[in-house]
Amino acid sequence: VASDLRVVAITGASAGIGRATAIRLARNGVAEVLCARRAAALEAVAEEVRAAGAQALAIVADVTDAVAMEAFAAAAVSRFGRLDVMICNAGFGIAGAIDEISPAQMRQLVDVNYMGTFHAARAAMRIFRRQNTGHLIAISSIVGKRGVPSMGAYAATKFAQVGLIECLRAEIVGSGISATAVYPVSTETEFFEIMSRETGKPMMRALGPRQQPAQVADAIARAIERPVPEVYPHRSSRWLVWLNTFAPGLTDRIVSRLRRRPVRAKGAARS
Ligand SMILES: NC(=O)c1ccc[n+]([C@@H]2O[C@H](COP(=O)([O-])OP(=O)(O)OC[C@H]3O[C@@H](n4cnc5c(N)ncnc54)[C@H](OP(=O)(O)O)[C@@H]3O)[C@@H](O)[C@H]2O)c1
Repeated sequence: VASDLRVVAITGASAGIGRATAIRLARNGVAEVLCARRAAALEAVAEEVRAAGAQALAIVADVTDAVAMEAFAAAAVSRFGRLDVMICNAGFGIAGAIDEISPAQMRQLVDVNYMGTFHAARAAMRIFRRQNTGHLIAISSIVGKRGVPSMGAYAATKFAQVGLIECLRAEIVGSGISATAVYPVSTETEFFEIMSRETGKPMMRALGPRQQPAQVADAIARAIERPVPEVYPHRSSRWLVWLNTFAPGLTDRIVSRLRRRPVRAKGAARS
């Protein structure tokens, strides 16, 4: 293995943003270690990566399993000799007000979105510290910066990822390790279909501005070239964060328009 070969691990690489990122990074000639639960879909992505000229290792694993995430990160080192970038991307959503979300649903969101990030990040950090180099990237969400109606349970896990990454960034200042939080807006992936299924409500639509997974992947690729603390793949979404810092009450009123309604609602909004 050439010593300048960059080795990138991506969780949740079988679809959506993870898949788009795997394919985008293949152009840069990296070696990739990819994980997700669906073996066939994951192997298909690994094949696309190989077809684009990069090496890829597909590992079927669930991010909620700490031991599996240790093995996932270790596989990068045993196969390719090192680990340069860990992208904690696997995640899903459930919609509903706090009293509509069951404790079991909340726990599942925490397990996948937060604990999944924690397990993969922890496994990667142990390797990064040994190497004295590495880049940890967490795919949060714009709702990890500013909540919107019906997304409290999900947003809480996205804020939690940000807390982890921010503290880490403060710890690694001056070291060869870097960390980045990514804040996508609504992205055209399987996310909304899965959210509808998990919520038990008809197809949920994306709300607010939208982007394609390839745009998020491009932004991640740029962050790997030049590590920055935060990435907003949809540039205008930064204004929401600034506005919320200076005028949170006004921002409440603005985002209240993003209230989710059942697709077949007979006009009247619930309050
Ligand atoms: N789409 C959006 O609008 C949007 C906006 C902001 C942030 N995000 C965030 O972006 C990330 C990717 O979402 P996406 O839009 O690309 O969704 P997606 O199309 O549903 O893809 C999710 C990926 O995560 C994997 N995954 C889910 N649970 C897993 C688990 N327990 N263990 C391992 N892999 C798991 C899925 O693969 P398997 O099912 O094969 O395991 C799939 O590859 C998520 O963290 C999401 O919160 C999405």
